[in-house]
Amino acid sequence: MYEKSIELLNKAAADELSAVHQYMYFHFHCDDQGFDLLAGLFRKTAIEEMMHVEKLAERILFLKGDVNMKLAEESKQV
Ligand SMILES: [Fe+2]
Repeated sequence: MYEKSIELLNKAAADELSAVHQYMYFHFHCDDQGFDLLAGLFRKTAIEEMMHVEKLAERILFLKGDVNMKLAEESKQV
């Protein structure tokens, strides 16, 4: 009944998961190079993106769908 909504929510979750990965990547590298303030900002932003994934997942489950935890690039290949 809500298949299209669940599909779109999963696409949004995939984009958010990709954002988490990207922000964490930059967090690691900035931290490694001593850019502590910037590293902290990337980490904080990654956590915010994770909260977005959580909200999307809650909505998907509310609609009785399953949460696809693939990244945006992976989900395009399906
Ligand atoms: Fe987001």
